Amino acid sequence: MLETLNIWVDVIGFVVAAGMLFGFIVPHIIGSVITGRVKKHFVDDYWDPLAHRMHDPHNYHYKQPLGPDFKPPVRVWHWINIVSFVILLISGLYIRYPWFEGGREIMRMLHYFFMYIITVNLIFRLVYLYIQGDWGDYLKFDLDDIKQAPSIIKYYMFIGPPYEHKKKFNALQRPTYPAIWALLGLQAISGFIIWNPAIGGPLVSLAGGSADLAAWMRLLHNVNMRIMVLIATIHSYLGIMEDYPVLNVFWFWKDPDLSKYEHDDHHEEQAEAFGLDDEEPASVE
Ligand code: HEM
Repeated sequence: MLETLNIWVDVIGFVVAAGMLFGFIVPHIIGSVITGRVKKHFVDDYWDPLAHRMHDPHNYHYKQPLGPDFKPPVRVWHWINIVSFVILLISGLYIRYPWFEGGREIMRMLHYFFMYIITVNLIFRLVYLYIQGDWGDYLKFDLDDIKQAPSIIKYYMFIGPPYEHKKKFNALQRPTYPAIWALLGLQAISGFIIWNPAIGGPLVSLAGGSADLAAWMRLLHNVNMRIMVLIATIHSYLGIMEDYPVLNVFWFWKDPDLSKYEHDDHHEEQAEAFGLDDEEPASVE
Protein backbone atom coordinates (compact mmCIF):
# COMPACT_ATOMS: atom_id res chain seq x y z
CA MET A 1 0.00 0.00 0.00
CA LEU A 2 2.78 2.44 0.91
CA GLU A 3 4.43 1.82 -2.41
CA THR A 4 1.21 2.69 -4.28
CA LEU A 5 0.71 5.78 -2.12
CA ASN A 6 4.25 6.94 -2.86
CA ILE A 7 3.62 6.65 -6.58
CA TRP A 8 0.36 8.60 -6.23
CA VAL A 9 2.13 11.32 -4.26
CA ASP A 10 4.66 11.70 -7.05
CA VAL A 11 1.99 11.79 -9.78
CA ILE A 12 -0.42 14.11 -7.97
CA GLY A 13 2.49 16.28 -6.79
CA PHE A 14 3.65 16.71 -10.36
CA VAL A 15 0.13 17.55 -11.62
CA VAL A 16 -0.47 20.09 -8.82
CA ALA A 17 2.93 21.76 -9.38
CA ALA A 18 2.28 22.00 -13.13
CA GLY A 19 -1.24 23.31 -12.37
CA MET A 20 0.16 26.04 -10.16
CA LEU A 21 2.72 27.06 -12.75
CA PHE A 22 0.47 26.99 -15.82
CA GLY A 23 -2.84 27.69 -14.08
CA PHE A 24 -1.75 30.55 -11.87
CA ILE A 25 1.76 31.96 -12.26
CA VAL A 26 2.05 32.06 -16.06
CA PRO A 27 -1.51 33.45 -16.59
CA HIS A 28 -0.88 35.98 -13.82
CA ILE A 29 2.35 37.17 -15.47
CA ILE A 30 0.53 37.47 -18.82
CA GLY A 31 -2.39 39.30 -17.15
CA SER A 32 0.02 41.65 -15.38
CA VAL A 33 1.73 42.55 -18.66
CA ILE A 34 -1.55 43.01 -20.57
CA THR A 35 -3.22 45.15 -17.90
CA GLY A 36 -0.13 47.34 -17.52
CA ARG A 37 0.65 46.26 -13.96
CA VAL A 38 4.20 45.21 -14.84
CA LYS A 39 4.84 48.60 -16.44
CA LYS A 40 3.22 50.46 -13.56
CA HIS A 41 5.33 48.60 -10.99
CA PHE A 42 8.67 47.95 -12.62
CA VAL A 43 8.93 50.79 -15.18
CA ASP A 44 6.95 53.66 -13.62
CA ASP A 45 7.85 52.47 -10.11
CA TYR A 46 4.36 53.15 -8.73
CA TRP A 47 3.11 50.77 -6.02
CA ASP A 48 -0.36 50.97 -4.54
CA PRO A 49 0.68 49.44 -1.19
CA LEU A 50 3.04 52.41 -0.72
CA ALA A 51 0.45 54.94 -1.85
CA HIS A 52 -2.00 53.47 0.62
CA ARG A 53 0.52 53.70 3.43
CA MET A 54 0.83 57.40 2.73
CA HIS A 55 -2.91 57.87 2.84
CA ASP A 56 -3.78 56.07 6.01
CA PRO A 57 -2.08 57.49 9.09
CA HIS A 58 -4.01 55.24 11.42
CA ASN A 59 -2.71 51.90 10.25
CA TYR A 60 0.29 52.74 8.19
CA HIS A 61 2.87 54.62 10.18
CA TYR A 62 2.13 57.87 8.50
CA LYS A 63 5.12 59.44 6.70
CA GLN A 64 7.49 57.01 8.36
CA PRO A 65 10.11 54.86 6.68
CA LEU A 66 8.91 51.27 6.41
CA GLY A 67 11.99 49.92 8.18
CA PRO A 68 10.57 49.86 11.72
CA ASP A 69 7.76 47.59 10.50
CA PHE A 70 10.26 44.76 10.23
CA LYS A 71 12.33 43.99 13.28
CA PRO A 72 15.94 42.91 12.59
CA PRO A 73 15.55 39.47 14.27
CA VAL A 74 12.61 38.70 11.95
CA ARG A 75 14.62 39.71 8.88
CA VAL A 76 17.56 37.53 9.98
CA TRP A 77 15.14 34.69 10.76
CA HIS A 78 13.67 34.95 7.27
CA TRP A 79 17.09 34.83 5.56
CA ILE A 80 18.19 31.80 7.59
CA ASN A 81 14.86 30.20 6.72
CA ILE A 82 15.20 30.83 2.96
CA VAL A 83 18.78 29.52 2.79
CA SER A 84 18.08 26.45 4.94
CA PHE A 85 14.82 25.71 3.10
CA VAL A 86 16.48 25.78 -0.33
CA ILE A 87 19.41 23.60 0.82
CA LEU A 88 17.04 21.13 2.55
CA LEU A 89 14.85 21.03 -0.56
CA ILE A 90 17.74 20.31 -2.94
CA SER A 91 19.43 17.79 -0.63
CA GLY A 92 16.08 16.14 0.24
CA LEU A 93 15.12 15.80 -3.41
CA TYR A 94 18.53 14.29 -4.11
CA ILE A 95 18.10 11.77 -1.28
CA ARG A 96 14.80 10.73 -2.87
CA TYR A 97 15.73 10.99 -6.55
CA PRO A 98 19.56 10.86 -6.81
CA TRP A 99 20.02 12.54 -10.19
CA PHE A 100 23.83 12.22 -10.32
CA GLU A 101 26.36 9.70 -9.01
CA GLY A 102 28.31 10.03 -5.80
CA GLY A 103 26.41 12.84 -4.08
CA ARG A 104 24.76 10.79 -1.38
CA GLU A 105 27.18 11.44 1.46
CA ILE A 106 27.39 15.21 0.98
CA MET A 107 23.64 15.60 0.41
CA ARG A 108 22.82 13.62 3.56
CA MET A 109 25.37 15.65 5.52
CA LEU A 110 23.82 18.91 4.27
CA HIS A 111 20.31 17.71 5.08
CA TYR A 112 21.33 16.60 8.57
CA PHE A 113 23.15 19.87 9.26
CA PHE A 114 20.44 22.25 8.03
CA MET A 115 17.62 20.31 9.67
CA TYR A 116 19.00 21.45 13.02
CA ILE A 117 19.48 25.03 11.81
CA ILE A 118 15.92 25.37 10.47
CA THR A 119 14.41 23.73 13.56
CA VAL A 120 16.29 25.98 16.00
CA ASN A 121 15.40 28.95 13.80
CA LEU A 122 11.70 28.04 13.96
CA ILE A 123 11.80 27.69 17.75
CA PHE A 124 13.52 31.07 17.95
CA ARG A 125 10.81 32.62 15.74
CA LEU A 126 8.02 31.33 17.96
CA VAL A 127 9.78 32.52 21.12
CA TYR A 128 10.30 35.92 19.51
CA LEU A 129 6.61 36.06 18.54
CA TYR A 130 5.77 35.45 22.18
CA ILE A 131 8.23 38.11 23.38
CA GLN A 132 7.05 40.71 20.87
CA GLY A 133 3.39 39.94 21.45
CA ASP A 134 2.58 40.90 17.83
CA TRP A 135 0.81 37.62 17.14
CA GLY A 136 -2.31 39.60 16.14
CA ASP A 137 -0.54 40.73 12.93
CA TYR A 138 -0.35 37.07 11.91
CA LEU A 139 -3.12 35.20 13.66
CA LYS A 140 -6.00 37.61 14.18
CA PHE A 141 -8.88 37.70 11.70
CA ASP A 142 -12.08 39.70 12.01
CA LEU A 143 -15.20 40.58 10.07
CA ASP A 144 -13.34 43.30 8.16
CA ASP A 145 -11.01 40.66 6.73
CA ILE A 146 -13.91 38.56 5.50
CA LYS A 147 -15.55 41.64 3.96
CA GLN A 148 -12.30 42.64 2.29
CA ALA A 149 -11.31 39.21 0.94
CA PRO A 150 -13.45 39.44 -2.27
CA SER A 151 -11.82 42.74 -3.27
CA ILE A 152 -8.36 41.16 -2.88
CA ILE A 153 -9.37 38.16 -5.01
CA LYS A 154 -10.88 40.46 -7.64
CA TYR A 155 -7.67 42.48 -7.79
CA TYR A 156 -5.56 39.35 -8.30
CA MET A 157 -8.00 38.19 -11.01
CA PHE A 158 -7.67 41.56 -12.80
CA ILE A 159 -11.37 42.35 -12.41
CA GLY A 160 -11.09 44.90 -9.60
CA PRO A 161 -9.04 47.97 -8.62
CA PRO A 162 -6.17 47.75 -6.12
CA TYR A 163 -7.62 46.71 -2.78
CA GLU A 164 -7.17 48.90 0.28
CA HIS A 165 -4.18 48.08 2.47
CA LYS A 166 -5.63 48.25 5.92
CA LYS A 167 -3.46 46.02 8.08
CA LYS A 168 0.15 44.91 8.09
CA PHE A 169 -0.70 41.87 5.91
CA ASN A 170 -3.77 41.41 3.76
CA ALA A 171 -6.38 38.81 4.74
CA LEU A 172 -5.19 36.27 2.16
CA GLN A 173 -1.49 36.79 2.77
CA ARG A 174 -1.71 36.68 6.57
CA PRO A 175 -2.44 32.93 6.93
CA THR A 176 0.76 32.15 4.98
CA TYR A 177 2.94 32.83 8.01
CA PRO A 178 1.25 30.62 10.60
CA ALA A 179 0.78 27.99 7.88
CA ILE A 180 4.52 27.93 7.19
CA TRP A 181 5.31 27.74 10.92
CA ALA A 182 2.93 24.81 11.35
CA LEU A 183 4.14 23.01 8.22
CA LEU A 184 7.80 23.51 9.16
CA GLY A 185 6.99 22.11 12.60
CA LEU A 186 5.41 19.06 10.98
CA GLN A 187 8.41 18.70 8.65
CA ALA A 188 10.77 18.78 11.62
CA ILE A 189 8.72 16.21 13.58
CA SER A 190 8.39 13.82 10.62
CA GLY A 191 12.09 14.33 9.75
CA PHE A 192 13.33 13.59 13.25
CA ILE A 193 11.16 10.46 13.39
CA ILE A 194 12.61 9.26 10.04
CA TRP A 195 16.06 9.84 11.55
CA ASN A 196 15.21 8.00 14.79
CA PRO A 197 11.78 6.30 14.84
CA ALA A 198 12.02 5.76 18.63
CA ILE A 199 11.22 9.49 19.00
CA GLY A 200 7.73 8.61 17.74
CA GLY A 201 6.96 6.80 21.05
CA PRO A 202 3.52 5.14 20.82
CA LEU A 203 3.43 5.77 17.07
CA VAL A 204 5.98 2.95 16.63
CA SER A 205 3.56 0.22 17.68
CA LEU A 206 0.66 1.99 15.97
CA ALA A 207 2.51 1.85 12.65
CA GLY A 208 3.55 -1.78 13.20
CA GLY A 209 7.25 -1.24 13.97
CA SER A 210 10.10 1.24 13.52
CA ALA A 211 10.69 0.57 9.85
CA ASP A 212 7.01 1.04 9.01
CA LEU A 213 6.79 4.22 11.07
CA ALA A 214 9.84 5.62 9.25
CA ALA A 215 8.25 4.74 5.91
CA TRP A 216 4.98 6.51 6.82
CA MET A 217 6.92 9.54 8.05
CA ARG A 218 8.91 9.60 4.80
CA LEU A 219 5.59 9.78 2.95
CA LEU A 220 4.33 12.58 5.20
CA HIS A 221 7.68 14.42 4.87
CA ASN A 222 7.35 14.21 1.10
CA VAL A 223 3.71 15.41 0.91
CA ASN A 224 4.41 18.21 3.37
CA MET A 225 7.49 19.27 1.40
CA ARG A 226 5.31 19.67 -1.70
CA ILE A 227 2.71 21.76 0.15
CA MET A 228 5.44 24.04 1.54
CA VAL A 229 7.03 24.47 -1.88
CA LEU A 230 3.64 25.45 -3.36
CA ILE A 231 2.99 28.01 -0.63
CA ALA A 232 6.54 29.39 -0.73
CA THR A 233 6.42 29.73 -4.52
CA ILE A 234 3.12 31.64 -4.58
CA HIS A 235 4.24 33.74 -1.60
CA SER A 236 7.56 34.67 -3.30
CA TYR A 237 5.96 35.32 -6.68
CA LEU A 238 3.27 37.66 -5.31
CA GLY A 239 5.77 39.32 -2.97
CA ILE A 240 8.00 40.27 -5.90
CA MET A 241 5.25 41.09 -8.41
CA GLU A 242 2.95 43.06 -6.11
CA ASP A 243 5.03 44.37 -3.25
CA TYR A 244 8.67 44.53 -4.31
CA PRO A 245 9.54 47.81 -2.51
CA VAL A 246 8.41 46.27 0.77
CA LEU A 247 10.53 43.18 0.06
CA ASN A 248 13.41 45.54 -0.63
CA VAL A 249 13.00 46.94 2.86
CA PHE A 250 12.53 43.56 4.45
CA TRP A 251 15.36 41.79 2.61
CA PHE A 252 17.91 44.50 1.92
CA TRP A 253 17.17 47.25 4.44
CA LYS A 254 16.42 49.70 1.57
CA ASP A 255 13.61 52.16 2.28
CA PRO A 256 11.76 53.46 -0.80
CA ASP A 257 11.35 57.13 -1.59
CA LEU A 258 7.81 57.80 -0.40
CA SER A 259 7.77 61.46 -1.46
CA LYS A 260 6.09 60.73 -4.79
CA TYR A 261 3.04 59.43 -2.95
CA GLU A 262 2.52 62.64 -0.99
CA HIS A 263 -0.91 64.30 -1.22
CA ASP A 264 -1.19 66.96 1.44
CA ASP A 265 -4.97 67.23 1.22
CA HIS A 266 -5.32 63.53 1.93
CA HIS A 267 -2.96 63.78 4.86
CA GLU A 268 -4.93 66.58 6.40
CA GLU A 269 -8.23 64.81 5.89
CA GLN A 270 -6.95 61.54 7.23
CA ALA A 271 -5.04 63.07 10.10
CA GLU A 272 -8.13 64.97 11.14
CA ALA A 273 -10.28 61.86 10.86
CA PHE A 274 -7.95 60.05 13.25
CA GLY A 275 -7.41 63.02 15.52
CA LEU A 276 -3.71 63.26 14.63
CA ASP A 277 -1.57 66.31 14.07
CA ASP A 278 -0.72 66.33 10.34
CA GLU A 279 2.90 67.29 11.07
CA GLU A 280 3.34 64.58 13.66
CA PRO A 281 4.07 61.10 12.35
CA ALA A 282 2.09 58.38 14.12
CA SER A 283 3.99 56.09 16.46
CA VAL A 284 5.95 53.37 14.69
CA GLU A 285 5.02 50.74 17.24
C1 HEM B 1 12.66 20.74 9.45
C2 HEM B 1 13.58 19.86 9.71
C3 HEM B 1 13.86 18.65 8.85
C4 HEM B 1 14.27 17.45 9.33
C5 HEM B 1 14.48 17.11 10.78
C6 HEM B 1 14.46 16.58 8.19
C7 HEM B 1 14.92 15.29 8.26
C8 HEM B 1 15.02 14.42 7.22
C9 HEM B 1 15.58 13.10 7.27
C10 HEM B 1 16.15 12.44 8.53
C11 HEM B 1 15.49 12.56 6.04
C12 HEM B 1 15.98 11.18 5.61
C13 HEM B 1 17.39 11.31 5.15
C14 HEM B 1 18.00 9.98 4.79
O1 HEM B 1 17.26 9.09 4.33
O2 HEM B 1 19.20 9.89 4.98
C15 HEM B 1 14.87 13.52 5.18
C16 HEM B 1 14.55 13.34 3.86
C17 HEM B 1 13.97 14.28 3.05
N1 HEM B 1 13.72 15.59 3.38
FE1 HEM B 1 13.92 16.40 5.21
N2 HEM B 1 14.11 17.24 7.05
C18 HEM B 1 13.74 18.52 7.41
C19 HEM B 1 13.33 19.52 6.57
C20 HEM B 1 13.10 19.35 5.23
C21 HEM B 1 12.64 20.40 4.35
C22 HEM B 1 12.39 21.84 4.77
C23 HEM B 1 12.47 19.83 3.13
C24 HEM B 1 12.01 20.45 1.85
C25 HEM B 1 11.49 21.64 1.71
C26 HEM B 1 12.82 18.44 3.23
C27 HEM B 1 12.75 17.52 2.21
C28 HEM B 1 13.12 16.22 2.30
C29 HEM B 1 12.97 15.24 1.26
C30 HEM B 1 12.35 15.49 -0.12
C31 HEM B 1 13.50 14.03 1.72
C32 HEM B 1 13.54 12.69 1.00
C33 HEM B 1 12.39 11.88 1.54
C34 HEM B 1 12.32 10.52 0.91
O3 HEM B 1 13.30 9.77 0.95
O4 HEM B 1 11.25 10.24 0.37
N3 HEM B 1 13.21 18.18 4.52
N4 HEM B 1 14.60 14.66 5.91
